[in-house]
Order: sequence, then C-alpha cells, then structure tokens
Amino acid sequence: MRLLLIAAENGSLPGGKVGGMGDVIRDVPRALAALGHEVTVLVPGYQHFSRLPGTTLQTALEVDFRGHTERVELWVLPSDPAHPRLRCQVLEHPLLAPCGPGRIYCDDGPDRPFATDASKFALFCAAVATGLRDGALPWPDRVHLHDWHTAMVPVLARFEPGFAALGELHFVYTIHNLALQGIRPLRGDDSALEAWFPRLRYDYAFVGDPRYPDCFNPMRAGIRLCRKVHAVSPTYAREIQGDAGEGLAEDLRQADREGRLEGILNGCEYPASRVAPVEFGALLAAVRVQLQRWREEPGPDRAMRGASALERWRRKRPSILLTSVGRLTDQKVRLLRMPVADGRSVLEHLLESLGRRGLFIMLGSGDPVLEDFFAAVAARSDNFLFLRGFSEPLSEMLYAGGDLFLMPSSFEPCGISQMLAMRAGQPCLVHAVGGLADTVRDGVNGFAFGGTGEAAQALHLLQRFEQVLNLHATDPAAWSRISEEAAAARFDWSAVARAYEARLYR
Ligand code: GLC
Repeated sequence: MRLLLIAAENGSLPGGKVGGMGDVIRDVPRALAALGHEVTVLVPGYQHFSRLPGTTLQTALEVDFRGHTERVELWVLPSDPAHPRLRCQVLEHPLLAPCGPGRIYCDDGPDRPFATDASKFALFCAAVATGLRDGALPWPDRVHLHDWHTAMVPVLARFEPGFAALGELHFVYTIHNLALQGIRPLRGDDSALEAWFPRLRYDYAFVGDPRYPDCFNPMRAGIRLCRKVHAVSPTYAREIQGDAGEGLAEDLRQADREGRLEGILNGCEYPASRVAPVEFGALLAAVRVQLQRWREEPGPDRAMRGASALERWRRKRPSILLTSVGRLTDQKVRLLRMPVADGRSVLEHLLESLGRRGLFIMLGSGDPVLEDFFAAVAARSDNFLFLRGFSEPLSEMLYAGGDLFLMPSSFEPCGISQMLAMRAGQPCLVHAVGGLADTVRDGVNGFAFGGTGEAAQALHLLQRFEQVLNLHATDPAAWSRISEEAAAARFDWSAVARAYEARLYR
C-alpha cells in the first residue's frame, strides 16, 4: 500500500521530537515500510528541517489560506539506505515557524489557548490537501493522521468545495492524547475556523465542540470524519469512552458502535542484545558531567538542586535506586504533588519511606511550576536528586541503572518510558491506567496501583511502594524473577504494524 502519515512531530529528524508521538512517528513508518508498504511521512518544516543537509526542494504549492494565496514549499529529506521504502518530507512557509525556527509548539497561554499553533497547523493541513489535489503528493491508499494538529485535512476534504476530490480518501486518525484538542472559535478571531477558510461549508455537527457551542474542535472532527479512529492502547480506548472522555466520550462511543474505534498499543525498539546494566559509579559520574554542562548554560540554575544527595551517595551505592524520566506535566506527575493527610506531598512521603537505604533520581523538565516543586523538595532532601533538564544518554543510563522505575501518571494513553525501563530489566511501579495497565502486570513483570479518585490513588501508591520496598529488601529471588519478566516482555513494532494493516488500513 501507499501510505501517507501526517503529524506535527517526526523523531527521526534532529529536533523533531517533543513527546512520545515523535517516537511513534519515527518507528512506525519503518515497521510499515519493512512490511513492504511505500511510506511517506510529512510534517511541517518549522523553517528548520528544510535546512538540514541534503534536503531538496521538490515543488511549491499555491495554498488558499485566510483569503490569500500562500506559497508553501514541499521539501524532501535525504533517504535512509536502511529504509528504502520510506520517504520523509516537510512543508515550509514562514507561518509554519511563528515562534522561531525549529520550535514545534508555541504553547499559547490560557488567554488565547492554541491560537498560534492552530493557525500554523491549519495552514499545514491546507497545504497537505493542496498537495494531494494537485498531485504533488502521490495519491495514497491510506492517509494516517496523528492528533488534532492534522485533523483539518479531513475537514477540508469533506467541507471545502475546492477539495471535493479528496472525499474518497481513506483517513485513519490516531489519538495520542485526548486531553489536547486544539479548540478555537468558529469566527470572530484571526485564529478561527472561518478566518482560515472563509468558503468552508461545514456541518457544525461534525466539527463543533460539544461544550463550547461557538467553537471548532479539530480533535472531535478527526474522530467524527475518519474511517478509523485509533487510540494508542486498548485500555485507553475503553477509558476515553467514559471518564477520560474529555467531553468527547459520546463521539467515541459512537465510533466504537460503528466499529471504527481500535485500541492498539504502541511498540518499542529492541536492540539485538539486551541493554547492558550501568554501574552506579558510572551513572553518578555522568550526572556530574551533565550538571557541569548545564551550569555553563544560561537559564535557571539547575546545578545545585541535588548537591546534598550527590555528596551523600558519593561512596556508597544505595540499596535501592528509584528512577523517573519524563516530561514534567500535570499528566505525568500530578499525583506526586498531591498533599496527603498531614499536608505533606506524596513525593515527601515516598522519600520518607525510602529513608536512608535508597535514592530517587528524577530526570525531566517541563512545566516551571512543577520543576520548582521538585527543586524545592530536592533542596531539602538527601535522598532525592532532581535533574532539571533532559539528556538522552543520561535517560538511557537511568533506564539501565535503576532498580525501580516510577510512573504514576494520572492518565497515560500509552507511555514509552515504562517500556524502555522494562527493556533494560528495570521493573516499574505504575498507575494502572491506559497503556501502563496494558504493559505492566502487577506482581509479574512490575508493580501497579489503582484507586478511584486522586486521594485513593495517592494512598494506594504509598502503600504499594512500601510493599515493593519490602519485597526488594527481603526477597531478592522474587525481585530478580520480576526483573527478568520485565526484560522478556515484548512490545514489538512489527506486530503493531501488522495490527495497523489488519485493523486500521483494511
Ligand atoms: C502521548 C501520550 C503517551 C503516548 C504518546 C505516543 O504523548 O501522552 O502516553 O505514549 O503520545 O502515542
């Protein structure tokens, strides 16, 4: 089949990944191409990817946008000899980089949520539709769209008279995160549906937001207009039809009744041989090097946050090393900040349980409020090292060097970090939701907690943590069985690609 994948991120390009979606758009096309499909991945160039060495200009498209004609360039990246059936392309225009070259998301503030990003992705989608109509993009057998950023393509195909020819395309829509929907006004703003496409003859029932009647909801449009809707894990596919529906549960139940909704778990790359364990000394040395590097960079002082923990663990390996790697967003770490009965946070209670026998190393950056919280706790703890930033090599060392990986996400469509930790033989303690529930089996290849409502979840996390610490201290044989099970688990991309063929592309 000829497949066209459209997304905001592509982790195979340098700087092309912000979150887990970037990993998926790097790996899934390779797996599909390996099955014999001709795969094209198309993302915005953000005035950056088109400047990568070896990139060539294919053509320029005349795109109608906001009542003007914009000249959007279509570039082709050099092909990778390891994946001859895979092609990466980017669309370029100054409006696709409104926040500077290379910035994928602008993260508009709460006063005008999504305003800059939504306009940028509306132009991107209009260019995709134009490229398909005018033949610059070869006619695909399937168009696979990812998250709200790309959902304008089927809106144009269905409701823009100039794109009627696109009505026959088979669209597949993947939901990576239902919490981000890209909602904008229908009109009365320069970042609004009718401002971008003044001639659009849309049916409000497909594109309107169920909660805000004067708004356009691209996430909903993707769900309503595509032939298949894919959630990135079976459990998440169920959860979003209920409490995790973010206002769209009814649309998702309808998609399910119509046989359009599929839950297929993401995969993970497995190297030929198992990731080698990392010695604690080597890990600490790498931490010091990274801290020094950050110290030399402008910006917040990240260096001093873990000084006392670093000092304390200089000579001795903790008997248990707890690790965490990931973006600091509410979704991922909200539970850790929750106050429990005595007013202290869940994190502080975890650290108290860990006591003098263990060390918790957390690597991540994101929401500054959350960063500040972790930095403040780290400043007064000598068993918590908060590395405020990101470094791929350091993340790999933490996956390979830790004893227990913590992932207490409030919700998790799929999650990748738990798979990476498991791959290295590090068991995870996770909140049993979404993809975490589909990858970690409590007491078999890891540990899980649950509970209805945040207060119960916080409590169960603390209780389970105590039990897990106890198991680690008293039953090394059981622990190593669980860690072997974690390492043996397989979430294989080629199986995922075959599931796409059977359930999304058929
Ligand atoms: C989003 C989700 C994450 C998922 C990723 C890739 O980032 O939050 O759970 O793994 O998309 O699908």
